[in-house]
Amino acid sequence: MPSSKIAGIGMYVPENVITNNDLKKYMDTSDEWIQERTGIKERRYAHRTDETTTTMGVEAAKIGIERAGITPQDIDFIVFATLSPDYYFPGCGVLVQRALKMKEIGALDVRNQCSGFVYALSVADQFIKSGMYKNILVIGSEKHSFGLDLTTRGRNVSVIFGDGAGAVVLQPTNETTTAGGKRGILSTHLHSDGESAEILAMYNPGTHANHWSTEKFADFNDAEMADMFMSHAMIENAQLFPNMDGPAVFKKAIVKFPEVILESLQVNGLSAADLNLLIPHQANLRIAQFVQQKLGLKDEQVYNNIQRYGNTTAASIPIALCEAWQEGKIKKNDLVCLAAFGSGFTWASALIRW
Ligand code: COA
Repeated sequence: MPSSKIAGIGMYVPENVITNNDLKKYMDTSDEWIQERTGIKERRYAHRTDETTTTMGVEAAKIGIERAGITPQDIDFIVFATLSPDYYFPGCGVLVQRALKMKEIGALDVRNQCSGFVYALSVADQFIKSGMYKNILVIGSEKHSFGLDLTTRGRNVSVIFGDGAGAVVLQPTNETTTAGGKRGILSTHLHSDGESAEILAMYNPGTHANHWSTEKFADFNDAEMADMFMSHAMIENAQLFPNMDGPAVFKKAIVKFPEVILESLQVNGLSAADLNLLIPHQANLRIAQFVQQKLGLKDEQVYNNIQRYGNTTAASIPIALCEAWQEGKIKKNDLVCLAAFGSGFTWASALIRW
């Protein structure tokens, strides 16, 4: 059975840089507060109308496809991870298929928020290993800036997030290391715990309204039905923005990140000392530093760029992976671990022998 290798990788971030001081125009916050709690100095915001989650994903994909030495016509499956799709439906995968004039291939959207890219990579990995596909495009992209509460009311969430996209092309490989070991993705590990699903969530628009009942259903008029899905009250009460209990997320993240990284190492008979590079989802620099300390990793074993991009959710890992690779921090035979944690909660890791 072949393994999957990352044959090409690309990223795209919008030109528009928003510093912490820029956010002070909209809300009561400070550069000191944001840097001290999150490590973030600036983030990118997409152009309001010309850039969407899909267009950014397409730009990253073009680079990844070119670096893999193939064309969009060679891609035979798309997996697109995002929580900020262009449309409620259909997903972004088909929009990429259209934009890149690809063949009538399968396109799958993954809804796993911050762990979306690792979940998407894991799905693609299974299709490569089974022999079903030879060139899979995996994209993580987010346009958060469109849906954030930029008033003081939403500051605990809004200051964290930024826009951008990353993409990889996965291909089969039977190559081995000089010692005869496997190359490519060694294993992936996916987890969830829905117990606290609502503490990091955007509830609306959605079908959750607890006043739905089959008895009453027939009595609702059209306006009342529409109100349940989207209403002025939802706008006035900030119910169309993400909600987050930051401290609760932090507490869970610092447990689950190390757990899922160690799981990937143990399954492969390796330890933290063997890691050349850990690329944690860029949730918060303090979380990444905590994980680094817990695993006893040196600074050069962990890659962070949240300082420049904020948390780009499904895009954060492929953006960081791409930058690390471009900076020459990932070389052939290196052991690289991708690890993510986020809304759901869901968390995941992928261990790769480059
Ligand atoms: N600027 C200034 N003050 C702010 C602020 C902002 N942007 N956001 C919140 N505050 C204030 C709060 O109102 C609160 O004030 P009070 O003490 O007067 O009530 C105070 O800062 C502390 O708020 P709290 O939410 O307890 O802060 P915190 O130390 O937990 O830091 C986070 C907040 C969001 C940075 C932190 O909890 C965190 O990073 N959690 C994990 C989030 C995460 O990773 N999310 C993505 C998951 S993938």
